Amino acid sequence: MKNLGILLSGRGSNFEAIAKNVAAGKICDARISIVISNRTDAGGVAKARELALETLVLPSKGKAREEHDREVVAALQNHKVDLVCLAGYMRLLSPWFVKQFPHRILNIHPSLLPAFPGLEAQEQAFAYGVKVAGCTVHFVDEELDHGPIIVQKAISVLDNDDEKTLAARILEQEHIAYSEAINLVLHGAYDLIGRKLVVKSMQK
Ligand code: GRF
Repeated sequence: MKNLGILLSGRGSNFEAIAKNVAAGKICDARISIVISNRTDAGGVAKARELALETLVLPSKGKAREEHDREVVAALQNHKVDLVCLAGYMRLLSPWFVKQFPHRILNIHPSLLPAFPGLEAQEQAFAYGVKVAGCTVHFVDEELDHGPIIVQKAISVLDNDDEKTLAARILEQEHIAYSEAINLVLHGAYDLIGRKLVVKSMQK
């Protein structure tokens, strides 16, 4: 049984999708051992409590990055976390944090990276006039929205889309992509050749 640690700062719909798939056995041999938020008012915190999951708020405001990261990593280690999933966690991790979990931290980003890193990726894509948009689950490295890609899902941008409808359809794909990526990283045999993830097989 592998332990997932979820870090979030906001509404927590990706976390919810992961929790649902864990409960349904679609993410196999895994459980969520801790949900950590850096914001007290995050919707994801309330959801995690409703689901009776171990939940911790570690406010980051006014704290130096690494000081806060040390608190978060200590909590993850206390809960024996094998894989850290950033699910709308609005903080850059310090290089020190990244080193504590080599290739064991995932992030989801609402664009087809390397296009549109950073904030409001869906709005950036819409304003740019792209015809294809999507989401990316990737390993976290020291740079923003940058590590090797694990799963991407693409959708067409429709003529009658606006920023909101586009973001909503990307979000549907995010909810599928994240669980796929978690299964792959936890139970898959893959090689990382430079930045390139090559899947060899999946074990149940
Ligand atoms: C998602 O769009 C995710 O890709 C990005 O932040 C948003 C979080 O949404 N990193 P939610 O809190 O999971 O609903």
